[in-house]
Formats: sequence, structure tokens, C-alpha cells
Amino acid sequence: MKNTLYLLFLSLLSIPVFGQYAISNTEATTETVAIVNNAPDIAIIPEPVSVIKSEGYFILPSNVVIQAPATPELKQVVAFLQERLSIPTGSYVAEVSTPAAGSTINLILNEKTNSALGKEGYQLTVTPNHITIKANKPAGLFYGAQSLIQLFPKEIESKEAVENIEWKAPCVEITDYPRVGWRGLMFDVARHFFTKAEVKQYIDAMVRYKYNILHLHLTDDEGWRIEIKGLPKLTEIGAWNVKKIGEFGNFFPPAADEPRNYGGFYTQDDIRELVQYAKDRFVDIMPEIDVPGHSLAAIASYPELSCTPGAENYRVRSGERIMDWSRGAPPIALVDNTLCPANEKVYSFLDTVITQVAQLFPFEYIHMGGDEAPFNFWEKSDSIKALMKKEGLKNMHQVQGYFEKRVQKIVESKGKKFMGWDEILDGDMPQNTSVMSWRGMKYGIEAAKRKHEVVMSPTTYAYLDYMQADVITEPKVYASLRLSKSYEFDPIPAGVDKKYIKGGQANLWTEQVYNIRQAEYMTWPRGMAIAESVWSPIEKKNWNNFFNRVEQHFKRLDVAETKYAPSVYDPIFSVSRSADKQLMIELSTEVPGLDIYYSFDNSFPDRFYPKYTEKLSPPKDATTLKVITYKGKQPVGRMLAMPVDELSRRSRK
Ligand code: ACM
Repeated sequence: MKNTLYLLFLSLLSIPVFGQYAISNTEATTETVAIVNNAPDIAIIPEPVSVIKSEGYFILPSNVVIQAPATPELKQVVAFLQERLSIPTGSYVAEVSTPAAGSTINLILNEKTNSALGKEGYQLTVTPNHITIKANKPAGLFYGAQSLIQLFPKEIESKEAVENIEWKAPCVEITDYPRVGWRGLMFDVARHFFTKAEVKQYIDAMVRYKYNILHLHLTDDEGWRIEIKGLPKLTEIGAWNVKKIGEFGNFFPPAADEPRNYGGFYTQDDIRELVQYAKDRFVDIMPEIDVPGHSLAAIASYPELSCTPGAENYRVRSGERIMDWSRGAPPIALVDNTLCPANEKVYSFLDTVITQVAQLFPFEYIHMGGDEAPFNFWEKSDSIKALMKKEGLKNMHQVQGYFEKRVQKIVESKGKKFMGWDEILDGDMPQNTSVMSWRGMKYGIEAAKRKHEVVMSPTTYAYLDYMQADVITEPKVYASLRLSKSYEFDPIPAGVDKKYIKGGQANLWTEQVYNIRQAEYMTWPRGMAIAESVWSPIEKKNWNNFFNRVEQHFKRLDVAETKYAPSVYDPIFSVSRSADKQLMIELSTEVPGLDIYYSFDNSFPDRFYPKYTEKLSPPKDATTLKVITYKGKQPVGRMLAMPVDELSRRSRK
């Protein structure tokens, strides 16, 4: 309780501090970009393959003419530019499809394919009088348009007209194409439901950074989010739980009379609308139906899908404890949340689901989960024992393997490719199974060696649900992942045949993410780091240069009113004990050029307080170390209040 009140106090403290001070020092930023890009006002994320800056600027006129071929797929590229250029600037943006003297922006589909650009690359040329974007395919023109928007002042991100801005873009020649074809973000809409409008908002943010796949985690213990005709209970029962607020995972089990009215689902029309919205922005949506584990919402709807009798025990989870992880993976289930591999009804249920999912989502893959299935209820089940005997299965991994192979057949019978989390490797799957490596890179490496297609989405670099800074500042999750670590992500590890690596992906699980603002906070800026890791040439990656651009993008996101985490500015606390057992506190920062000011007297430090220069030993009676980071005279970090007791506890670990 004490902790909870303390965290509440901290969060109240930090909101105004962040709102006021997140904007950072422009001069320092542009200077460093200048060194690397030789172009002080170019801060594109992800970093393009080649940027050649020339003299001068293009200034957007009040009448803009976009000339583009009248191809249906280009309509959305033109519409995107029209919207983004006209709303903030007030310019009138017209479109013509035939060559017009005096056109402002030309979108050109290469008559002769430029093989270096591939399907998604582009060439963007900005001269004082004209802008040209060339590409082999419409997707390339869209990414060229994204880079063009990033060349204009940050106010271009505004959703309303902005006065008194010179809308200028530096003259430049950019040649650019992605490092890998699969550039994904996973959004878990099952743990908390996010509306159709919120999913669109998420897509709008991801396309800035040239992501092209949105993996929707549509089902889990906490909710079934997609209408399936003929299985109405999935959304009548499975989409709803009891609203709980606090630390997900440790909630009291809901009482029988608490209303189950928290949640929601997408109708099939909603799904079609989202698929089209994404497609118009060159994003494919990959659906995930997570089975055989993580299936409590389905089982609460249709208890006969479980191996374990007891329909009355099954309720869509509301965040209460249902798994014991104390012995590691696989976990011990306290409630059986698995579909029963020994039950033929399960396969006809999945056939119905997959038939409709395959029709709704044109993307070539369906993700069928496969992660974290607990085995303890299967071990006790007579029907599983009978299945093992009949099929000659020796252990529970083989039981899951039997299930996965049958599901794969169903997926393939609908003309789709099967993808699963890396646990499916334990089931000795055929080579045409695609693997998403999440438990680090190693299972992806192993899968590629076994000639499976692989998407790398390792916890090590790409888990956006992990905390971005010290636990005292972030909603508590069991692990941390700082921006600088995310930036180390290389989806194509050494020693692996890169033809098996489709690409990389970051995953936003939402157990602790209750709303879209927090989803954005968790995604950005780490989503920028992953975007650069999957798009930019590895030799062009440079942390300091990247962070300078991130700071520019913070300002752009402020204008766009997209939330992001400022956690990278917060100091890192390390503790030790001196020879005479004194607690010693070391403070450091993730980015260079910050000063840390501190107090032990409970007042709020600013840059007139002591500056941190060496390890601190707290005064005998001090209870709280307060710290804040500055860049020159500008506060940039949040005001952190760290209990000395907490540091003392950490030093004993
Ligand atoms: C996972 O994070 N359980 C795939």
C-alpha cells in the first residue's frame, strides 16, 4: 500500500515536469547531425541509405500541384501528401495525372525498374523549384513521401493550420531502400481492447517510421477480439471481463456479481475497414489467434474445448493470477487455459475460425501463437494419455507438436502460411513453418539453421512492454529494456543464412497498458530504434547520431500529439557498498551531454543544486534522493524521487 501511494505521488509529480520540459536543445542536436550527415536540418528516421545535401531550400508555395499517374494504388499516396501538406500549411494542394507545366511535386513510377530500389525503395530529389519522388512501386513513393514530410519543419505534423512558418525543405538527393522486408509491430489488443479508431491511430504513427506489418494479437486469456460467424459466444462472453485498475496480474479474482462489461471486439466489417485502412498505408495486418495456450477467453465461451471438465470454473481473465512461473517455463497453470489437442471438436472449432480469418485478412500469413502452453493439466488428462498412446507421442512437447501440425494443415488448407512463436520448434515442425523468435535471438538462429523462415522479435531488444527506465518511474513490468539496448537490435545475426531471415518486429504486449496514450508511450521512441534496425544499412547505425535525430522527432511528436517516453533522459541508479559498508550511489545517463542535479533534503533540485560528479553516500538520516537531468540550462529528465531504503535494498541483492 505504501508503495502504491508512493508511486501515485511520483506519477503526479512527473506529469507536469515532463509536459513542461521534454523539449530539448536544438542547437546541440543539429550540430551533431551536421557532422554525420553534413546536413544540419535533415533528421530522418530511419536513416536513409544515402543522403546528398545540396545548397538551398525548396519553399512550399500556396498552390501546390502534385503530378502522379492515375494508378489506384497511388491514390492514397497522393491523398496522404495532400492531407499532410495542406492542413498545417493552408496551401491548396491539387492533383493532376498528366504532365503539367509548373507542377510542384512529381511522383514517378520508374518506367525502367531500378533494381537497387526493390519494391519499397525510392529516390527523393528536392531542388529549389521542384520535388521528385521516383520508385518502382507505389510503396516506394509512399516511403519517399514520409521522408519528404520529415524534411519540412516540425509544425508540418500539426493537425491544424499553423501561421507564420516558412515551409522550407533542404535541397537533397536521397536514395533509400529497406534492409529487410518484414518490418513489424505487434499490438496486443487482447489484454486490453483498443478501438478501431485507436488501431488506426497506431497505424498512422507506425507508418512515419516505414513499418509495413501490423501484427494484431487478437485472442488471449483476457479477451477474444474478432467476430466469428457461427461462434457467437466468442464475442458475447469471450470479449468481456471485469474492469480492474492497478497492477495487472495481481488483482483479486472478480466476485461472481461484478459486471463483465469491460472489453470489446471488432466486427467483421470493422476488420475489413482496418485491413483497408492499413493497406492504403502499405501496411499488411497479420492476425494472431493464440492457441493452444492463452485460450481462456475461448474456453470461457465454449468450455468443451478444454481437456479439463468444470465449465463453471472458466471465466475470461480479468488480470487475476492464473499461472505460476516460479519454476520457469512452461508455467504451471492454476486454471487450464489450453485448448485440448485430444479433442476433435477443437480442430473443427479452429477450422471455422481460420476459414473466416483467412477470408478477412489478405496477408499471406496467419500467426497461430503456440507460446507458453502449460502442460500440467494435459499431464493429468485421460484423453491426452489416450492420444499419446494412439499417436506414439512420448512427451508433452510432442503432444503440442501434434496439435501444431494439425493446425498448420488447417491454415494451409485455407491457402495461408503458418507462423508461430518459437516454442513450436519443440514440436519438430516441417520446414515450411515460419517461426517468430521471441525468447532471445537463439531460437531464430536455430530455426534458420533448420531452414525455417524467421522473424526476429527477441525480448532482448524488441519487447516494448518492458520498462524503459528505473522501476520507480515506470509502470511495473518484470523486465527493462532501455532505448540504447533496443538500438543494438540486428535482425540478421552473424553466421545465419540471411535468406531465411524475413525481418524483425517489436512487440507491444498490453497487460500493463490500459489506454492508447500509454501504448504510444511504450512504443516511442523504442519503435524508432527498431525501425532503424530493420530499415537502415547496419554500417549507418550510430547511437549518438540516432539519438540526436530522436530528439528532433520528440518535437515532431509533440506537435503531432503522439505520446512518447522521455525515460531516456532519466538517470540510471547503481549501488554498491564501500569497504566500511557505506551505501554508495552511482548515477549515470544513457545519453551523453546531460548534467544530473540532486538533493537529499526532500526539496526539488534544479541546476543551482549540487551537480553529480562522483559516487554519493547518503547523509545518515536522509530518506529520499531526488534527481533531475539538465541539458545546459534546460531540464530534460523527470524529477525522480528515489527512496534511500530502496537503494539500500538493491545494494544487498
Ligand atoms: C510471448 O511473449 N509470450 C510470445
